[in-house]
Parts: sequence; C-alpha cells; structure tokens
Amino acid sequence: MLFALEHVSCARAGRSVLADVSVDLADGTTALVGPSGAGKSTLLRLLNRLADADAGVVRYRGRDVRDYDVLALRREVALVPQLPALLPTTVEENVGYGPALCGHGADVAAALELAGLDRAFAPRRAQQLSVGEQQRVMLARALALGPRVLLLDEPTAALDAQARDAVERTLLSLRARLSAALIIVTHDMAQAGRLADRLVILEHGRVREPGEALTA
Ligand SMILES: Nc1ncnc2c1ncn2[C@@H]1O[C@H](COP(=O)(O)OP(=O)(O)O)[C@@H](O)[C@H]1O
Ligand SMILES: [Mg+2]
Repeated sequence: MLFALEHVSCARAGRSVLADVSVDLADGTTALVGPSGAGKSTLLRLLNRLADADAGVVRYRGRDVRDYDVLALRREVALVPQLPALLPTTVEENVGYGPALCGHGADVAAALELAGLDRAFAPRRAQQLSVGEQQRVMLARALALGPRVLLLDEPTAALDAQARDAVERTLLSLRARLSAALIIVTHDMAQAGRLADRLVILEHGRVREPGEALTA
C-alpha cells in the first residue's frame, strides 16, 4: 500500500480537524474530496510530514513516515500547495532550487514541459507571472524532484473555467506519462471523477465509508 493512515487524529487551535481517520491510499490516482474545512489539506500535509498527527500512524510503503529522513521523504513525496509560493527570482532558478538543495542538477526544460509551460518562461521573473502560470511553476518545481508521489492541493481552485480545463489536461497527461502516483485534493466531485481512479471522501474530519449517507 502506498499510504496507510491508522487511527489518525489531528487538532488545530484546540479543535479536532481529523478524528480517528483510517484509510488506505493506493498507487495510481486518488482524489481526496470534501467540502471546505473538511480537513483535506491537513491530511495531505501529513503524507510528507509538513505536519504530524497527534495520534495514530501514517505509513508510506509500510513504514511509519516518522522513520524516514524527512528531506528524502519530501523529495519522494512532493507537495504542490494550494497557493503559489515562489522565490523572488527566475522560473528556472525556482524549478532548479529543490534539486540544487539535494546537490544535483535538474532538467528544468523537461519539468517545465511536463507542467505545460513553454521553455521561454525559464528566464522570466516568477513573481511577475499570472497565478495560473505560477501554479504551473510550482508544479514544475515539484516534478523537477523526480517524485514517486505528487500531492496536489486544490490545483485549480484559483482558476477560471478555461484555465481549469487546461490544468486538468496537464494532470491527465502527467498520469499517462509519469509512473508517479497522484493524490489530488479537490472540493469538486465532478473534477474528482474526471481526474482520478478512486475517491476518498472526507467530511468533518472523518472518512466517509462507501455507501454511507451523504450527511451525518
Ligand atoms: N494552523 C491552523 N490553525 C487553526 N485552525 C486550523 C489550522 N489548520 C487548519 N485549521 C482548521 O482545520 C479545519 C480543516 O482545515 P483544512 O485541512 O485546511 O481543510 P480543507 O483543506 O478541507 O478546506 C478548518 O476548520 C481550519 O480552519
Ligand atoms: Mg484545503
């Protein structure tokens, strides 16, 4: 199993955000769906240790995530956050930054191409790009690490319908071209159906079992 959460609980500011969540996330493409505030981003961040559970265990390929070297884990399980957060430099330097930290070069052109950005973007200032372009730079930055798992937090939430469709096409092409597993957080059930092999539904910090009623 790619990830297994076992009785995971998480609180933020004294409130329960994830409550005794047990779920397996298999290889392939999974959509993590649920309304705003359900705990989706919190769950995603547990998978590469941007956050840790208060109780329970998160396993990656059978091992407790806390037993991995954290930087090695984040290289292998790369997260694209909901909002772009780019360094005040060029696209090329942003995309090459992660691999450079790990002491090796990056194929920036290949990462840009996979993320659906023309290589002409490489010398441009990242912070002068549109939000949609910045999100693709964030995607390229994650891809440059050569991840085995790509975590995408609401990859189209900030986009208009046309840009959303274009990003969905990029994600479907990544599915076809990369061997990496994708875990895509979205509040949009229709998008989940378009992009993923399977859905995990989160509501009020709990995973809804198949067949369970829509609202508790
Ligand atoms: N650092 C934090 N401090 C306080 N509350 C938080 C924090 N992170 C998340 N929360 C709260 O936890 C709940 C779940 O948040 P989140 O995981 O971001 O949900 P989702 O991604 O499904 O919208 C929300 O009610 C949110 O306000
Ligand atoms: Mg979120």
